[in-house]
Amino acid sequence: MSTAGGKPKKAFLTGITGQDGSYLTELLLSKGYEVHGLIRRSSTFSTDRIEHIYQDPHIQGTRLFLHYADLTDGHSIARVLEQVKPDEVYNLGAQSHVGVSFINPVYTAQTVAMGTLNVLEAIRNSRLPVRYYQASSSEMYGKVKETPQNEKTPFHPRSPYSCAKVYAFWQTVNYREAYGLFACNGILFNHESPRRGETFVTRKITRAATRIKLGLQEKLYLGNLDAKRDWGFAGDYVRAMWLMLQQDQPGDYVISTGEAHSIREFLDEVFGLLQLDWKQYVAQDPRYLRPAEVDLLLGDSTYARTRLNWKPEVGFKQLVKMMVDADMEIARREETLKKAGHAVRGPEMERGAKG
Ligand code: NAP
Ligand code: GDD
Repeated sequence: MSTAGGKPKKAFLTGITGQDGSYLTELLLSKGYEVHGLIRRSSTFSTDRIEHIYQDPHIQGTRLFLHYADLTDGHSIARVLEQVKPDEVYNLGAQSHVGVSFINPVYTAQTVAMGTLNVLEAIRNSRLPVRYYQASSSEMYGKVKETPQNEKTPFHPRSPYSCAKVYAFWQTVNYREAYGLFACNGILFNHESPRRGETFVTRKITRAATRIKLGLQEKLYLGNLDAKRDWGFAGDYVRAMWLMLQQDQPGDYVISTGEAHSIREFLDEVFGLLQLDWKQYVAQDPRYLRPAEVDLLLGDSTYARTRLNWKPEVGFKQLVKMMVDADMEIARREETLKKAGHAVRGPEMERGAKG
C-alpha cells in the first residue's frame, strides 16, 4: 500500500471523468490511495467512466471522493486543494479534442493553458509538498523536426490545442525550476481504449464498424486517412504517469509504443476483424479535415523504458481487438433495443458536430 506518514497517500485528479482519469483512478485505488477527483457541474451525468468504481460500497465515500470545481476557475481549484491536501496531483483535465480546438480556440486555451496555470498556482500558494503530473502531448511536436520524436525534439505545434499544451509544458518546467516543485511532464503519444471518447478517430471507427456489421448504420464519414499515429493502450500509459511521481527526481518523459500506423491501416484492421471491406462504407467529409494537420507522430520512449522501467503491455492488434469486442457488445445492446422499438442514438447522430 502507498502511504505517507503511515496514512494512505492522497491523489487529486483533474479530468477524473475522462478516459485516462478513469484508468488512473483504478490504478491508484489498487495501490491503496485515497482518490479525489474534480468534476464539473453538467446538466447530465458525466461520470459514466467511473460509475462502476464509485458505486462499489467499499470505495464510495471512503476512498473515492468527487469535488465540484472547474479548471477555468482558479479559486475553485485552490479550495479543493486546501481541503484535500493531496500528496500527488495529476492534471489530466482539458478540452482535449484537436479538431474542436480550431472551432473553440479561446476556451481550449482557457482549460489547457490557463487551467494548468491555475492548478500550479493553487499548489504554489498552498505550500503543500505536492508531486505534480502534467498531461503533456505528442501533438506538441506537430510539424515534426525529426522522427522518431524524443524528449529533446523541438516542438512545432499545429493547432490551438497543441499551442496551449506547449504553454502548459513550459509552465510545468518553470514551476520546477523557479519554486522547486516536484513537477513532471508526461509527453504521451495517442492512447486509446474502449473508454476513448467517441469523436476521436479510433473509437469513431470501432463504434461505426460494429454498428455497420449489425446493420445499425450505413456509412462512416472521416477526414484525412493518411495521417499516422503511434497508438498505445490507455491502461498502460497511466502506469507511466504514476511511475514518474515515484522517482527521486522530477523529469519529463516520452511515453509511446514506437510503432506508427495510418488511419487506413487502422480501418484495415478493424473491418478485417469483422470480415468487411471498409472501402464500401467509408466516405470522406471535408468537415473532418483540419486547417493544419499533424501527418506523423512516432515516439522514442527509450528514456522512460530505462529510467522508469516502463513498457507497454498491449500491442496494436490487441488494442484494436479489445476496442472492437467492447463496441460489438454495445452494438448488440443497441440492436436489442431497436428490435424492441426503442430509438437508439448512434455516432451518426453526431454528424452535426466535428469529430
Ligand atoms: P478526455 O477523455 O477528453 O477527458 C478530459 C477530461 O477533462 C474530462 O474529465 C473532462 O470533464 C475534463 N475537463 C474538460 N474541461 C474541463 C474544465 N474546464 N474543468 C475541469 N475539467 C475539465 O481526455 P483523455 O484522453 O483522458 O486525456 C487526458 C489528458 O491527457 C488531457 O489533458 C489530454 O489533453 C491529454 N493527452 C491525451 C492523450 C490521448 O491520446 N488520450 C495523449 C496526450 C495527452 P467532462 O467529463 O466533464 O467533460
Ligand atoms: N477525430 C477525428 N475524426 N480524426 C480524424 C477523422 C475523424 O473523422 N478522420 C481522420 N482523422 C485524423 C485526424 O485528422 C488526425 O490526423 C488523426 O485522425 C487522429 O485524430 P484524433 O483521433 O482526433 O487524435 P489526435 O491525434 O488529433 O489527438 C489525440 O492525441 C493527442 C496526442 O497526440 C487527442 O487525444 C489529444 O488530446 C492528444 O494530445
